[in-house]
Amino acid sequence: MNKVTAIAHTNIALIKYWGKKDEALRLPYTDSLSLTLDDFYTETSVTVSDEDQFFLDGELKSNADSQRVFNFLNYFRLKYNVKNSFLIESNNHVPNSAGLASSSSAFAALSGALAKASNLDLSLKELSQLARVGSGSASRSIYGGFVQWHAGHDDESSFAEQFDDASNSDINILSVIVNKNKKNISSTEGMNRTRMTSPFYKIWPDVVEHDLIKIKPAIKNNDIRTIGEISEHNAMEMHALTMSANPPFTYFDPETIEIMNIISNMRNENISVYFTIDAGPNVKVICHKKDVTLIKEKLEQQLANARIIITKPGPGITYK
Ligand code: DP6
Repeated sequence: MNKVTAIAHTNIALIKYWGKKDEALRLPYTDSLSLTLDDFYTETSVTVSDEDQFFLDGELKSNADSQRVFNFLNYFRLKYNVKNSFLIESNNHVPNSAGLASSSSAFAALSGALAKASNLDLSLKELSQLARVGSGSASRSIYGGFVQWHAGHDDESSFAEQFDDASNSDINILSVIVNKNKKNISSTEGMNRTRMTSPFYKIWPDVVEHDLIKIKPAIKNNDIRTIGEISEHNAMEMHALTMSANPPFTYFDPETIEIMNIISNMRNENISVYFTIDAGPNVKVICHKKDVTLIKEKLEQQLANARIIITKPGPGITYK
């Protein structure tokens, strides 16, 4: 049987997706906007087979650990009237095996490989709709550069598209890894709890709308300072929601807060540097390409155990 291989890169949300209005279809409450990253990606091969099997980084996963992938296969078969079973071999490529595997690159690569292995000629928009059902953020990893996911109101209207290919952007991202353990509260669970219990969730759609209006011209103008300011504020707005959920929770570790303070101190030295944080303790630092080495050195001087990886805007889905 022919093996089909797809590669998709992770993305970091600058304007966050945090809350669903439809759980099964993963329809979000708001639009979101991300940057696809160059150095972190998932390579997934799909072969038509007698039974569904899922290998992750060379290891056959149990049925329990494969459940999310198998549910996605069932959704895919139903949607496209496909009868086959599939052998899935997925490998995460992350420098220094830093534990930055992400469901965004995973479900984007899986969607592309499944479609190709089933001889479906899906557009990028259709792949984005498909990947969305695996993991919301995966809808954005189909594309390179800056990507907007339109919330929409049903399966057809909820998809991502490229906003800017980032070819003129001086943006660099430093990924600061403080902890590579699996998070206690998944993003799925965290966003659901927030949506249902935070008294502040009702203003989140307005917050996102406002931040999107401000960040889009900044991206077009390669205005990294404004991109950074808005992204950092939007991340803190999202994390403030988790702290006001009931029971309250946070993804921050002590080191996360330490890094936030280091970044803010660097700004006092007139370095244009900002952070964003997803559903975990690691920090993504946003800066100009010209400052990235200096910032890495400063972070390394002040953080004993952190691992820091420099990356830049990455490409959309490709096939081997
Ligand atoms: C904080 O895409 O992992 O990274 O749709 O439930 O799989 P599910 O959630 P997921 O959530 C990502 C949350 C985030 C923000 C973002 O990427 O927009």
